[in-house]
Amino acid sequence: MSTQIRTYLVTGGAGFIGSNYIGYMFEKYGDAIRIINLDVLTYAGNLGNLKDVEHNKNYIFKKVDICDRDAVGAIFAEYDIDRVVHFAAESHVDRSIKDPEIFVRTNVLGTFVMLNCAKQAWENADGSFKADKRFLHVSTDEVYGSLEEEGTYFYEHTPYDPHSPYSASKAGSDMMVKAYMDTYRFPANITNCSNNYGPFQFPEKLIPLMINNALQGKKLPVYGDGKNVRDWLYVGDHVKAIDMVQEKGRLFETYNIGGHNEKENIEIIQIILETLRDMLPDSDVRKAHLKDELITYVEDRKGHDRRYAIAPDKIKAEVGWEPEIMFKEGIRKTIQWFFEHEDWMANVTSGDYQKYYTEMYEK
Ligand code: NAD
Ligand code: TYD
Repeated sequence: MSTQIRTYLVTGGAGFIGSNYIGYMFEKYGDAIRIINLDVLTYAGNLGNLKDVEHNKNYIFKKVDICDRDAVGAIFAEYDIDRVVHFAAESHVDRSIKDPEIFVRTNVLGTFVMLNCAKQAWENADGSFKADKRFLHVSTDEVYGSLEEEGTYFYEHTPYDPHSPYSASKAGSDMMVKAYMDTYRFPANITNCSNNYGPFQFPEKLIPLMINNALQGKKLPVYGDGKNVRDWLYVGDHVKAIDMVQEKGRLFETYNIGGHNEKENIEIIQIILETLRDMLPDSDVRKAHLKDELITYVEDRKGHDRRYAIAPDKIKAEVGWEPEIMFKEGIRKTIQWFFEHEDWMANVTSGDYQKYYTEMYEK
C-alpha cells in the first residue's frame, strides 16, 4: 500500500476562510493529506479557530510572514509541497481605506514571495515544472469593480476595475499570478469569490458585526442608504469550491465562485434581526434588545461599491460545483454557531486570543 500523502501549504489558515478550509479538508481526506498552516497571526488570525485539528499528527503550524522570503523558502526546502492554497491577505475594505500600505505589502508583495518560492521549489532545470504541483490563489469579486444595473454580472472575462485599496491590492496580486502563468507556465489557478459568511468570521465584517451588536442591544450601523448589494455565499460552499478547482479545474484558468444570492445590506440586517427573534427563546433576556430601532444609518463608506454579483456559470459547467447552503439555512447555521461559541466572540473582541499563541507555542 502506498504511504504517499499529499502535502498542502495553506497560507492564512488561522483566518476566517482558511480555518474553515483546513477543517473541511481534514474531514474530507483524513490521513491522506498533511497540512502546513503558514500564518503570521495578525489581528485576524486566531489559532482558536483550529482547536479541532491542532492535535492532528498531519497538521503543522508555522508562524511565518508571507513577505519573509527566507522563512517561506525554508518551508519549501523542508517539505515537498504538492499544493499551495494562498488565503493570507489583509481583507477588510474599511481598514484599507484608513491604512492602505499594509495591503500593498501583504497582498501584492506577499503573493509575489509565495509565487517565487513555489516556482523555485517546483521548477525543473529545463524550465518545466515537476508533475502534479498546483498553486491556488484565493481572490475576490471586488477586483471587477462595481455593477450599476440589475441583471449584469461579473464573468471571468470582465475587465478588472478595482476601487478600494483592498480590491486594488488583490487585483495586483491576481495580475502577478497571471504573469507567472503566462510567462513561466507556472501551474496555478485563481478563484474570485463573492462575500462569504459563516463560523469564525471576524466581527468587523457586516454579518458577524450585526449579529454581535444586535445580541448586545448595540446600534446596527448601516453605511449610506443601505441599498448596496453584495452576493453572499456560505463559507462551507466556498471551501468546497476551492478543493474542487484544485481537483478538477483546468490549470491556468480563473473560476468565479458565487451562489446568486444578491441582497441589499438593509435586507441582510432585517433578516438577521428576524432570525434572531425566531431562534432566541422567550426566556432569553437578549430577545428584548432586538428592536428595529437599533438600525442606524451612518455616513457612507468612501468610494463604496454599489453592487457585486457573480456569474458562476464556468465553475458549474467545468468543475461541477453548485452551492448547497441557501441563505436562509446558512444564516441560521451561522447564528447557531455564534450562540454556541460566545466564548470565541468574547475572546476575539477582547483580544484575549492573542494569549493563546503564547500558551500553546511559546511556553
Ligand atoms: P481574514 O482576514 O479572516 O484572514 C486572513 C489571514 O491571513 C489571517 O489569519 C492573518 O493572520 C493572515 N495573514 C495576514 N497577513 C499575513 C502575512 N503577512 N503573512 C502570513 N499570514 C498573514 O481573511 P478571510 O476573510 O479569511 O479571507 C481569506 C482570503 O479570501 C483573502 O485572500 C481574501 O481576499 C479572500 N476572500 C475573502 C472573502 C470574504 O468574504 N471574506 C471573499 C472572497 C475572497
Ligand atoms: P463588508 O462585510 O465589510 O464586506 P465588503 O466591503 O468586502 O463587501 O461589508 C459588506 C457591506 O456592508 C458593504 O456594502 C459595507 C456594508 N457595511 C455596513 O453597512 N455597515 C457595517 O458596519 C459594515 C462593516 C459594512
